[in-house]
Amino acid sequence: MRIDIISIFPEYLSALDISLIGKARTDGLLDIRVHDLRDFTFDRHRTVDDTPYGGGAGMVMKPEPWALAIEHILEEVDSRPRLLVPTPSGAVFSQGHAQRLSQDDHLIFACGRYEGIDERFFEWATNVCDVELVSLGDYVLNGGEVAALAMIEAVGRLVPGVVGNPDSLVEESHSDGLLEYPVYTKPSQWRGAQVPEILLSGDHGKIAAWRHEQQLMRTQQRRPDLLS
Ligand code: ADE
Repeated sequence: MRIDIISIFPEYLSALDISLIGKARTDGLLDIRVHDLRDFTFDRHRTVDDTPYGGGAGMVMKPEPWALAIEHILEEVDSRPRLLVPTPSGAVFSQGHAQRLSQDDHLIFACGRYEGIDERFFEWATNVCDVELVSLGDYVLNGGEVAALAMIEAVGRLVPGVVGNPDSLVEESHSDGLLEYPVYTKPSQWRGAQVPEILLSGDHGKIAAWRHEQQLMRTQQRRPDLLS
């Protein structure tokens, strides 16, 4: 899978060099390229923003550098990529999005800052990409970079081969619409707390039933919205 990220803070994305995603890059499973939006400006100050028409606080990102950055990426590919724009006014990102996006060949993340990107950019982008506005949740970050990192990790780990043991993707929170069951490791007694007896029984049928019951209880307690 190819992933391009456009940002005015490319250093933010250096976390993609480490851990599972970093290894997937060196293994050639993920081709991740980070672009500095300011490389697509031509004035002395490398300006990417300006004051909003109609007045109001803050600055708006100019559409032209974004269009040039996308055109630069498109020069290298034949297909129509998906353009993901992290923004608090997008649809809330979920495991379902991650699963769907992990089937794509090419994602582009446009990480905006300030009050957002000039609306005309989105209209223009629909001519060349499948555009989706996505939010990490109902709160406001300073820009799209942290959201893009989270989404790339959620998508990247579902790309075949990125996570060594694919079984670990099956039994995890949200994969079946429920939260994950509690897990324990050695020692069986720790500071007076005992591992639930059933997990030491060796009865795999009973263990599976107990785990499912724990999933339901946890989900009911912490995230009842997932059950309705
Ligand atoms: N940019 C700013 N806030 C954001 C959020 N909640 N999700 C995604 N991108 C954002």
